[in-house]
Amino acid sequence: MTQSFSFTLHKTDGMARRGTVVTPHGPVETPAFMPVGTQATVKGLYPEAVEGTGAQILLGNTYHLMLRPGAERVAALGGLHKFMNWPHAILTDSGGFQVMSLATLRKLTEQGVTFRSHIDGSKHELTPERSIEIQALLGTDITMQLDECLKLPASREEIERAMQLSIRWGERSKRAFEARARDGYALFGIVQGGDDVPLRQQSAKALTDIGFHGYAIGGLAVGEPQEVMLKVVEETTPALPAAAPRYLMGVGTPHDLIEAVARGVDMFDCVMPTRNGRHGMAFTRFGQINLSNARHADDPRPLDEDSPHPLARVYSRAYLHHLTKANEMLGQVMLSTINIAYYQALTAGMRAAIEAGRFADYRETVLEGWRKGDL
Ligand code: GUN
Repeated sequence: MTQSFSFTLHKTDGMARRGTVVTPHGPVETPAFMPVGTQATVKGLYPEAVEGTGAQILLGNTYHLMLRPGAERVAALGGLHKFMNWPHAILTDSGGFQVMSLATLRKLTEQGVTFRSHIDGSKHELTPERSIEIQALLGTDITMQLDECLKLPASREEIERAMQLSIRWGERSKRAFEARARDGYALFGIVQGGDDVPLRQQSAKALTDIGFHGYAIGGLAVGEPQEVMLKVVEETTPALPAAAPRYLMGVGTPHDLIEAVARGVDMFDCVMPTRNGRHGMAFTRFGQINLSNARHADDPRPLDEDSPHPLARVYSRAYLHHLTKANEMLGQVMLSTINIAYYQALTAGMRAAIEAGRFADYRETVLEGWRKGDL
């Protein structure tokens, strides 16, 4: 039976929140990390392997999937869940961010954005309405509104213009979403406003007035220092409804996650565990370990003998070093899997700690492990 979207807040500890998002394709326990599956694949991992890390939701990308293989084609093949054989929840980003970072010859108007594909140079248009339509064709559980994400630093005028445009696009997105009547599915608004706290709060209030199932904080981790990002998060979450999930887009390092949860964020996505895994980096309780470093060549120990994931317990650092140096795809696959599993263990640990009312202790223990480092 298909379930309707809902969010239940079970417990708070300081500003940290423990909740459950229910989607038509199952529950997502929060704080949650969403592995990135841009092109209908989490790079290098079978869906079963993604499941094995504990992930309950993936992120897909409107921009990539509309260009290839095409949203209408995915719909004709039964939707994105069936296409990629992922039976659990999917959230798709709206395309705004990827158009800005990948496409060429972009032209932004009130109506939307026209651009040329980074794949073959073909011309496309993305409007708030078309983005909603594409995400419905994909069958995504959580749809994101089209927004304009600026790189920082930017002038206050530019930040305000993009923020106001994103609010108007949020209104249009909601109208288009409701017109499709995908009962039980969810639409999230996206707060913009750069590093300007009053603009962020204005954006959060305007989006709350429009009314969404959840609220994302966008336009961060785009060149600003971590303390600026955390300050913006800390000042924005109180301006959002407590009864709706909050999603910090494109963030971040394990340290970013724990600090953002401490400031009231529930959901995250980031390419870091898979991208860094493809480059020989492992995320562990002891911090980041660079497996290409020669010091691992003779080390028989696993990455973390207490890890909940078998790959981190079974294979030696020497073997992972060898695979990395030999540029073998299995090394990339193993490290990507280990890294996603680490992010899942970290969020599971945060959930347990919030439930027990000891989030501050957990945070200190985790930070201490990273400070002490490897060896
Ligand atoms: N991913 C990371 N940041 C953003 C953002 O500001 N907007 C959107 N749509 N996606 C993002």
